[in-house]
Parts: sequence; structure tokens; C-alpha cells
Amino acid sequence: MSFGVLPNYGYTDYMAIQRTAGPISGAKDRNTKGVMSDRVAEPEVRRSEATLELNLRPKNLDEFVGQSALKKNLRVFLTAAQKRGEPIEHVLLSGPPGLGKTTLAHIIAAEMGVHLVVTSGPAIERQGDLAAMLTNLKEGDILFIDEIHRLHRTVEEILYPAMEDYALDLVVGKGPGARSLRLDLPKFTVIGATTRLGMLSGPLRDRFGGIYRLSFYTPDDIALILNRSAKILTIKIEPGAVQALAGRARLTPRIANRLLKRVRDFAEVAGEPTITKPVAEAALDQLGVDRVGLDNLDQAYLKTLVERFGGGPVGINAIAASIGEDENSLLDVVEPFLLQAGLIDRTHRGRVATQKAYTHVGMQMPKTITQLKLA
Ligand SMILES: Nc1ncnc2c1ncn2[C@@H]1O[C@H](COP(=O)(O)OP(=O)(O)OP(=O)(O)O)[C@@H](O)[C@H]1O
Ligand SMILES: [Mg+2]
Repeated sequence: MSFGVLPNYGYTDYMAIQRTAGPISGAKDRNTKGVMSDRVAEPEVRRSEATLELNLRPKNLDEFVGQSALKKNLRVFLTAAQKRGEPIEHVLLSGPPGLGKTTLAHIIAAEMGVHLVVTSGPAIERQGDLAAMLTNLKEGDILFIDEIHRLHRTVEEILYPAMEDYALDLVVGKGPGARSLRLDLPKFTVIGATTRLGMLSGPLRDRFGGIYRLSFYTPDDIALILNRSAKILTIKIEPGAVQALAGRARLTPRIANRLLKRVRDFAEVAGEPTITKPVAEAALDQLGVDRVGLDNLDQAYLKTLVERFGGGPVGINAIAASIGEDENSLLDVVEPFLLQAGLIDRTHRGRVATQKAYTHVGMQMPKTITQLKLA
């Protein structure tokens, strides 16, 4: 899907686009059987969820919870550019889904008081699409390219001189009559977002002046986010329930917000005016979210690794085939948290279940594996 050229679109316009076209990043939400997928929701439901999500999105750096080191660096980066009266250098934001890359891109544009034009790597199919977007930018505008690691190679080639020299090299005509044309572009900024920093080509990565990696949040930060969201959504929730949710939100703001909304549904249906700890826990159990926050897909992954493949090492493709899931969504959505939680290890021979994973699925780690690991 291509959004074509979105000249001078600001935040409100972007909201309008998202409402009609659906959230761009929503396509990457957990897309698996019965696993809290936003994709399978009815269009109306999806639209209202998207609006809610936009309400919850922090609008400036002060509202952005956690990631303190990143925020500190980013503030220096933005203030320095403002003092010089220049557009900011290109920014690359990386990290697992739902940690706040898109949110930060909007915040950067708001803090700099500039327009943000939104697109995504796979949406730019031809060089001409990108050329049209670039020539419509104004001085200081930000072009936000989500999933930048999925840019087509031919498109990437014209992005290099655009980012480095603010110039567009085009070939006009065909055959012997073809000639190359260089167009000057305004000084603009690219903000790229990626869940896979490693998939970005070296030359593209080198063209970013600021590279920021978002890490998983602490449970305390997640609790702050939950309290903030509860206030915005006028949900009454007890501190014990916030803790219960924070402990099972996979250290990810998007998941925390989603669980909060689902738990509110349960409380409403049960006629509970306030979400208490027992209400939250019962709802989470019913949603299939276990005590460390793993859902059906994470659990299927772990079970397969431990029971079917004897704890590994096994290739990601074998696990994907075995549970009937797309390899990329395992890489993007499932593995980052399992690694963070110390449930799996990634070795050069494949994925390995840790002692913690065996305990989690209620199995004894075979002695041979323990000995091998110790050797
Ligand atoms: N630091 C934060 N403070 C408060 N809320 C946050 C923060 N980061 C993210 N959120 C919330 O989480 C939601 C998801 O964040 P966002 O869409 O920016 O993630 P993303 O990294 O772009 O994910 P994806 O890779 O899937 O595109 C936001 O709508 C926002 O409500
Ligand atoms: Mg995003």
C-alpha cells in the first residue's frame, strides 16, 4: 500500500490518514492465531483502537516515559540543532516493536516544530515514488520512513545522495537519448525506524547522524505508563492491579496499554467499577497471558523448542515451520523478549532453551544438556 506523496502533513493530518488507512505499524502487530491480533479486528473496532492508541501516545519528550539515556542524548541533539537554526541530522531509531519508535518520530517533529511526512520502506515501490515525496518536502521537513530495512535496493540508491548532498539524481528518457538530471532538494531530515538494525546496509546506516536504540522498559516505567494511560482513559485501577499488569506486559508500552484496555473490558462486563488486583489477574489468565507475560505464541515457541527439538540448538526456520508461523514475526515479535527474559539463547548453531525455559514449561532440563552447557 502506498500513501503517495503527503506534502506538509502534520500530526493531525497523519491522524486522519491513520484513521482511514489504518495504522501503518499495526500491520506488524502480533498476527497469529488467536493471539491478541489487531489485524483480525473489525474495521470499526480497529479504527477506534487506533484513535485510542493515538490519544495515549506521548506528545512531547517530557511525557515520554523511561529511556532516560536516550532522551538525554536526543535532547542535546535537538537543542544543538535549534541553537544553530538548522534542521536536525538524519535519525535512526531501532528496537523491538511497540517500544516507541513511531512515537519518538512524532515527538521529534513536534519538538522541532516541523512537518512530518510518513511513509514506510515497503510502501515505496519505485524510485519515482520516493522522488515525488522528496521533491514535495520543504526546508526542515521530516520524512519518516518506518521499516526502513525493507526499502527496495533501487529506491535506497537514490536515497543516498538525497540524504548526503540534498540532491536527486534522475535518469530522464530511455536508450541512447537518456540523460541524467540532478535536482536540488531542500534541507530535510530522514527519520528511519527499524526493528532489525542488522538488516540495514552499511552505506545507509552511515548516513544517519543520530542512531538511537530503544531498549525494553523497566517494570516501574511500565507501571508509570499504565497509570498515565489509565488517567487518559479515565480507568479506575488499584496500584496492585497496575503491578500485576506491569509484570505481564513484556516490558513493552504497547502491550501494557493493550492489556489495560482488555482488562478494563473484563472489569466492565463483570460490573466492577475499579480494576483490583484479583480482577486484573483473573482477566490476564483468561486472556492467556501467563505469569511472566508470555502469550499463546510465545508459549508455543518455547514448548516447541523444549519438547519437539529437545531444547535445541535448532534453526529459527524449523521452529517457524513447526508452529506454522512466519519466521519474520518470530524474529521481530517473539524472540526479542524471550532473549531479554533469559528464556532462550541465540548461538551460531541455532536457538537454545535455557534452564529458565525448562522451568517455565514445567520440565526438567536433561542432565546431558546441563553438562554440555557447563562444559
Ligand atoms: N515512552 C513511552 N511512554 C508512554 N507511552 C509510550 C512510550 N513508548 C510507547 N508508548 C505507547 O506505546 C504505543 C506504541 O508505541 P510506538 O507505536 O511508537 O511503537 P513502535 O516502536 O513504533 O512500534 P513498531 O515497531 O511496531 O512500529 C504508543 O502508541 C504509545 O501509546
Ligand atoms: Mg512504529
